[in-house]
Amino acid sequence: MSVATPWSADFAADLTTADPRIQRLIAAEETRNNGTVNLIASESYCPKATVEAEASILVNKNATGYPAERNVAGCQVINEIEELACARALALFGAEHANIQALSSTIANIAVLRGLLKQGDTILSLRESAGGHHSHGARYHVSGQDYKVVGFGVDEAVGAIDLEAVLKKARAERPAMIVAGSTAYPRAIDFKGLRRIADEVGALFFADIAHVAGLVVTGLHENPAPYADVVTTSTHKTFCGPRTGGLILSRKAHAAAVDDALFPGMQGAPGAHIIAGRAVLFDIVSRPGFKALMTRVLENAQHLAKAVLDTGIPLYLGGTDTHMVVADLRKLDVSEVALDRVLEEHNILCNRITLPIRDGDASRVGLRLGSNAMTIRGMDAEGLATAAQAIASIVRRPDRALDAGLAKRMRALGDAYPVPLGFLPQQAAAA
Ligand SMILES: Cc1ncc(COP(=O)(O)O)c(C=O)c1O
Repeated sequence: MSVATPWSADFAADLTTADPRIQRLIAAEETRNNGTVNLIASESYCPKATVEAEASILVNKNATGYPAERNVAGCQVINEIEELACARALALFGAEHANIQALSSTIANIAVLRGLLKQGDTILSLRESAGGHHSHGARYHVSGQDYKVVGFGVDEAVGAIDLEAVLKKARAERPAMIVAGSTAYPRAIDFKGLRRIADEVGALFFADIAHVAGLVVTGLHENPAPYADVVTTSTHKTFCGPRTGGLILSRKAHAAAVDDALFPGMQGAPGAHIIAGRAVLFDIVSRPGFKALMTRVLENAQHLAKAVLDTGIPLYLGGTDTHMVVADLRKLDVSEVALDRVLEEHNILCNRITLPIRDGDASRVGLRLGSNAMTIRGMDAEGLATAAQAIASIVRRPDRALDAGLAKRMRALGDAYPVPLGFLPQQAAAA
């Protein structure tokens, strides 16, 4: 017979009763989110069903190992879920092998490097200052510490990665791997071109599509899976899933090496609930509604780009092919200013980034803006133009002092486009 467990009162209490302080803070986050114009290119809002899958009994399951060989009992259900998640990922990208266990996209990237390279091998990757990610071999990051890392950049006159220069460096350095992926590179990446270079020098080609995955699965950005040896992605950003977790897609020939590098090489048990959330996501994004959303994200990025240009501020690489727009402030002497914080005081959220050095510039400052979050919240060209004009006026104001009237107007602009109903527990309860 079941007896009452001593912990049962706390165990069954909902958040409001168990921890009203955290509950209030979550509600405060909802208010903060609504009252800001969210132009953070790496943020989006995930579908309710993905959150439901994550906040399920699966959060308790230890599923150490892969479906074919778990180190723990009771994995029949999670095996089915993980196999479904991988099958859906393979169908979405047309890839040969999927691993959905990485606890972040950064971890996924390290697993790829450790699985496919030897210590001391050379990596040729897009420089962070040109828009690459630090997990592609930055000197201060673990991904850069075991390898010789050579960077490639962009040709600003052409407005794209300088493939000629990549080819020259590849011939000179004979890298074991070429890595390309964007954190702040707003143009489409020519994956086929990079594959050709990798083939010429006998290198592996690794594409990180963390930012553009949602565009890739809807056919709005080239899919590197047919060309690359390995592809990784996070599942938030334009993929619009919950944060946490990475997906690795690889050729069959690399599957065992990458899988082993991740588990048992780096991680313990995966998050069974995270895997379930991704399985749901991969199905939802394969439906026509998601393509319609991504199409609007791209249209809005063009509106945002034009609106920034209309203020007289130039764009890094001249424009965008993605959800990302980078305002180029290198002509302004703003290197000492925490511009992202000043913008945040005015209820506009974005990232300050460092752009490549150019002769005659006053700084290396750029502002990375993204259209994905506000598109999900229903913003159109007019709202984005209002935000762009506010950004320009704040950036140009010499004293950087708070303009309380502008901050209020931006708060009202955010509030006019609330976070989608159903995502946050508080909203669901109130609905
Ligand atoms: C290209 C790229 N790869 C990887 C990552 C890391 O993703 P995660 O936060 O899941 O580790 C990012 C994050 O910004 C990114 O832009």
